[in-house]
Amino acid sequence: MGFDEFLKEAALLLGLQRRPFQRRGVKRKVERRLVEIGCPGFDEYLLKIQIDPKEKDHISTILTVTISRFFRDREVFDALEKSVLPAILKDREKKDLNVWSIGCASGEEPYSLSLLWKEKFEKDFPKLHHSILATDIDEKMIERGKEGRYKKSSLREVPDNILKRYFRIKNEFYVLEQVIRESVDFRKQNILEDEPFSGMDVVFCRNLAFTYFSKESQTKVLKKLAEGLNEKGFLVIGKDEILPLMYPTLFVPFSKAQGIYQKFSLNVTNRLNLCSETED
Ligand SMILES: C[S@@+](CC[C@H](N)C(=O)[O-])C[C@H]1O[C@@H](n2cnc3c(N)ncnc32)[C@H](O)[C@@H]1O
Repeated sequence: MGFDEFLKEAALLLGLQRRPFQRRGVKRKVERRLVEIGCPGFDEYLLKIQIDPKEKDHISTILTVTISRFFRDREVFDALEKSVLPAILKDREKKDLNVWSIGCASGEEPYSLSLLWKEKFEKDFPKLHHSILATDIDEKMIERGKEGRYKKSSLREVPDNILKRYFRIKNEFYVLEQVIRESVDFRKQNILEDEPFSGMDVVFCRNLAFTYFSKESQTKVLKKLAEGLNEKGFLVIGKDEILPLMYPTLFVPFSKAQGIYQKFSLNVTNRLNLCSETED
């Protein structure tokens, strides 16, 4: 079997899109992996990923991109600050806030949320317990996230005051303050295979499922995301991503331009029914 056929079969098995991303780079990485584990060829490797879940996760990490940056698409974080979090926090009874970043890479996204909370909300909500869960399929990424050491290039959207206050420069790297590092709970999870976490107020799933996954996998993941969210919870996807066609059965757009959706609730359904009744 040649590389292209392997890629097609592997994509099908993993629930990814057939279109290879950065084909040449990926080919080199897969070939290197075959040497590393002493696998004679693509046929044998395909068999291995069918029976070995660890290797299946490993090849997924090779076939998807892991690039991220702090405050990626700043307007999305502005929308969180100005409308999403205030909408959640206006519930005066609320005692906690649970946020989940799926495909968190090396922590840039969940740490940005933690920095936003610290800078803009903590003072006004000192008693509210907030938790930020960050999951990724790639253990190496998670370890890097826990380390909290970044190159300047991943910090270009960070506001100056935050950069000065929460990062120290050490050997050309920017090291994140411990208090922020400790605020994020990193765990390994494959969103396609594993059960979703639940009780979330906001779920981030940006630049992963709705870019790399096949249509069937996207629908499967979208249902998991709805399961993970509280009623009226918010889903944030990448700015250039679109949800599967069936999404209106689970979510309503909140700010489509920023990729923000709200979980469908009974109240919303009733409202829509009422609207169509009055229109008749
Ligand atoms: C392009 S990065 C996106 C990072 C961040 N969400 C952002 O938008 O900047 C995609 C991340 O998804 C992770 N990933 C790939 N497949 C996954 C899966 N099945 N479950 C969980 N994470 C996955 C990759 O390891 C990578 O870190």
